[in-house]
Amino acid sequence: MRSVPKYLVTVLLFALACFLASASDPSPLQDFCVAINNPTSAVFVNGKFCMDPKVVTANDFFFPGLQIPGNTANRLGSNVTLVNVDKLPGLNTLGISLARIDFAPYGLNPPHTHPRGTEI
Ligand SMILES: *[C@@H]1O[C@H](CO)[C@@H](O)[C@H](O)[C@H]1NC(C)=O
Repeated sequence: MRSVPKYLVTVLLFALACFLASASDPSPLQDFCVAINNPTSAVFVNGKFCMDPKVVTANDFFFPGLQIPGNTANRLGSNVTLVNVDKLPGLNTLGISLARIDFAPYGLNPPHTHPRGTEI
């Protein structure tokens, strides 16, 4: 039996390693799922009910207020204005949130995590 060229084995092993090493979250099932607290919608995604796409408006993807400084007169000397799905329903299922952090001089942002989500 003829032997397989070494370079071909190397290329195949590299391709297999690349295939096995790729990992990601599953793709979203739909482009957006604007969160709504009203359970009349039948679709429940990511802990929230989805608003009927026919009634979604641009305002569901808008948050006014990031330009307003938070009051840093507190023990930590900082103030986080968090914009998550509860404040910006259009963020639902997108795996991202926003925050404005204001610091007084020597203010702190305590250690924290963002499990399975990204924060800007
Ligand atoms: C952050 O700032 C807002 C707006 O001034 C204020 O209502 C809120 O109490 C502040 N939070 C803290 C933890 O100081």
